[in-house]
Amino acid sequence: MPGKLPESLQQKVEERLRYYEDLGIRLFYRDRVAERRADGEFVSQVPTQQRPAPAQEISLAKLKAQMAAAAKVTPAPVIPVIAPLGPSLFDAMNKVQDDTLPKIVEEIGDCTRCKLHRHRNKIVFGDGNPKAELVFIGEGPGADEDAQGLPFVGRAGKLLTQMIEAMGLQRKDVYICNVVKCRPPENRVPEPDEVETCSPYLLRQIDVINPKVLVCLGAVAAKTLLETNRGITQFRGQWLEWRGRKLIATYHPAYLLRNPNAKGEVWKDLQKVMAELRLLAPKKKLL
Ligand code: URA
Repeated sequence: MPGKLPESLQQKVEERLRYYEDLGIRLFYRDRVAERRADGEFVSQVPTQQRPAPAQEISLAKLKAQMAAAAKVTPAPVIPVIAPLGPSLFDAMNKVQDDTLPKIVEEIGDCTRCKLHRHRNKIVFGDGNPKAELVFIGEGPGADEDAQGLPFVGRAGKLLTQMIEAMGLQRKDVYICNVVKCRPPENRVPEPDEVETCSPYLLRQIDVINPKVLVCLGAVAAKTLLETNRGITQFRGQWLEWRGRKLIATYHPAYLLRNPNAKGEVWKDLQKVMAELRLLAPKKKLL
């Protein structure tokens, strides 16, 4: 009879199932996510309301019938692998774990991935302590940064340096970087395709540095990281959770150069950061 198990095999299966039944094992079913307790029992970690309905107890006769039916099903054809398999999840995790700032620099190389490369002089990767607890993220390099290959070294950069020092820190204690690594022409706001191309490198930098606190300087940095279109005034100075880290957005130093009255608000935001990082009281006040 087609699909029928050979007699000897049937007997073996039957014996094995009886053996299990004698041991009290009747349900051939286990939760997808289960943890072994100290007493050896498996306990499900899946909340009760999400658990699938328990399998029905199957009689030996029913099981035999199911096995015979399964034997009749034509097996799916084996599709030959004609393309190399992609990296496994394990490889991907290792890659992330092994990431370093020099590797990211190397990967960026002499980047031509977006149109910003056409006018740039130097790629501005970032600067500061590669293990900083505090990372400042700006928008993109200006003319001075483009010439020197360093972030925040122009007029706005000098103000940022004063802000950092007012917090009782030095530039070398923190890490400073930007959403885009090449200067947008005429210092225009980086365009969405430029942000999309460049920001994955920023995210990798942040993951490698692993800071406690991120300070977004201005709307471009805040909107990019938070993936929001809300105006910065709606959430400026509020602690936000970002990929397991604390993030606060404040005004960009270039905005403060044009609107010195806003310095008080920025100073309040920075004091929140200092409290979070348990930094000592500042020696001098923000100008
Ligand atoms: N403005 C920025 O956003 N970044 C810099 O590096 C300099 C000015």
